[in-house]
Amino acid sequence: MNYELPKGSRLLKKQFTYGVATSSFQIEGGIEQRLPCIWDTFCATPGKVKDGSNGDLACDHYNLWRDDIALISSLGVDAYRFSIAWARVMNKDGNLNQQGVDFYINILDELKAKNIKSFVTLYHWDLPQHIEDQGGWLNRNTAYLFQDYADKLSKAFGDRVYSYATLNEPFCSSYLGYEAGIHAPGLTKKAYGRQSAHHLLLAHGLAMQVLQKNSPNSMNGLVLNFTPAYPLTDSAADIRAAQLADDYFNQWYIKPVFDGAYPDSFALLADEDKPMIEAGDFDIIKAPLDFLGVNFYTRTVYKATEGRDFIEVDMVDAPKTDIGWEIYPQAFTDLLVSLHQKYKLPPVYITENGAAAADQLHNAEVDDQLRLSYYQLHLNAVHQAVEQGVDIQGYFAWSLMDNFEWAEGYLKRFGIVYVDYDSQQRTVKNSGLAYKRLISNR
Ligand code: FCB
Repeated sequence: MNYELPKGSRLLKKQFTYGVATSSFQIEGGIEQRLPCIWDTFCATPGKVKDGSNGDLACDHYNLWRDDIALISSLGVDAYRFSIAWARVMNKDGNLNQQGVDFYINILDELKAKNIKSFVTLYHWDLPQHIEDQGGWLNRNTAYLFQDYADKLSKAFGDRVYSYATLNEPFCSSYLGYEAGIHAPGLTKKAYGRQSAHHLLLAHGLAMQVLQKNSPNSMNGLVLNFTPAYPLTDSAADIRAAQLADDYFNQWYIKPVFDGAYPDSFALLADEDKPMIEAGDFDIIKAPLDFLGVNFYTRTVYKATEGRDFIEVDMVDAPKTDIGWEIYPQAFTDLLVSLHQKYKLPPVYITENGAAAADQLHNAEVDDQLRLSYYQLHLNAVHQAVEQGVDIQGYFAWSLMDNFEWAEGYLKRFGIVYVDYDSQQRTVKNSGLAYKRLISNR
């Protein structure tokens, strides 16, 4: 099967950037050469990760990085999005760890040699544990430590980086990590979720200052995830429930960046749940972006309920991926168009999109039909958004290869490349082969 797009689509132009994405903790391993991070601790806590696994080896990318870049290059992509492990590049005393910095410099140089643009994310959830021990993202000082890390690292990288993103999905770091407790560090308090979100946004703004200064020629921005909220019925109560959920899970992280304010429903928070905000914070947070990264996987349906703002509805009969996320590509187009209408967006890159499937390797082939169809539908959804006026410049498949899927461990496979975790052998899946054809046929 080939991915088909309408003739003349921007997605068929050579200038449109296609890439693959990964993150440090999910693929690297190499834990001897870095400090512990909150995900090491979380994995070591019984019951937190479904298969009891950890990131000690993962895809062994720490050792196999050169082969992996050859693999990326063989796919013909224009760009590779990956993240830096803060705990690998900085020592406890706040100085750079040169060995860790060199690991990434080698990667950046190899990418450049292969003519692949590097999209670097500074924070994809793996906070050094010693910083968590001081309160992590609940401590305002962590935002300043992040700025210092961004400052020193961007100086060390020089002009090697095509694009920097400060944070990946602050919603996940704050809500899943500090409020729902299903990600590291596993805390569960509404006030913690709100406070960590504010400090993450502040950290983003502070890092933008140093990135724009040290690396003015790279494209610097932020990666946010969105799970559009739909009402179960068109009753006023359900519509309001969906809107409150949208504020809480989505707009909370983008509105401060573009409008310098939280959504109006901030006022509904109990006083003890409201974050501490200092004068001038929003001026820092709303620093202009060179690009916005959008990650999209699915939507959520909500209904009104007694005593709560909203309740999630499981769409039992809807098509879903292997991780239980509904396949609903229209939400992708709707999301992009609505963001474009609500905010004055810079160029947009789809920095993650993809599907989990229960893949099987047979005779050196992985025929991942579900993923093939998911990509077909979602590439088309992006095309529709472009047609409706959204300035989308690129698209990254999540993920380059199967990897450690957080609380799901290694049970959920998102790669367009299959990883045999015993042999560390990589096999390009049929979805990956189709991606390669799409890219090379432009
Ligand atoms: C996103 C994460 C990424 C991956 C995908 C499936 O929320 O950014 O690391 O786990 O989901």
